[in-house]
Amino acid sequence: MKIETYEKAYLALGGVTLTAALLVLLYTSVGMDIHLPTHIAEVDPATVRTTPPFDQPGLRQIGPGRYEAVILGQVWAFLPQEIRVPVGAEVTFTATSADVIHGFLIAGTRVNMMLIPGQVSRQTYTFRRPGEYGLICHEYCGLGHQGMVGMVIVE
Ligand code: CUA
Repeated sequence: MKIETYEKAYLALGGVTLTAALLVLLYTSVGMDIHLPTHIAEVDPATVRTTPPFDQPGLRQIGPGRYEAVILGQVWAFLPQEIRVPVGAEVTFTATSADVIHGFLIAGTRVNMMLIPGQVSRQTYTFRRPGEYGLICHEYCGLGHQGMVGMVIVE
């Protein structure tokens, strides 16, 4: 076989791979509605504990089947540590950190954010299956990092 044949084959392979990657990206962003967690606002970490809505962390209903969970991350706990929602609830997590960078990952879901002091992170997820979903900090944040956990209970 001539060298050019190999070159053409590798070029074609590159083209096919690139096209496949773009199609996957298009399908996951438009078809599956997967987006990066949104940075929606800024908040002063020094006064975040007295700034709404973070002065009252917790779950509130914002519509039929729709909830907002306001969560404050701090060394080394989430406030609140546990939330309970009914099956099918669409929950918007609005969260930030009061001190250092923390992670916010709910196991078994695609909720995965960073909690950055000064920034408000937001992500929405619909819990279609009942169960206990572990919430963990997945950014190393100091001595108590491995104990920084919480729970979303869907019943
Ligand atoms: Cu908070 Cu690791």
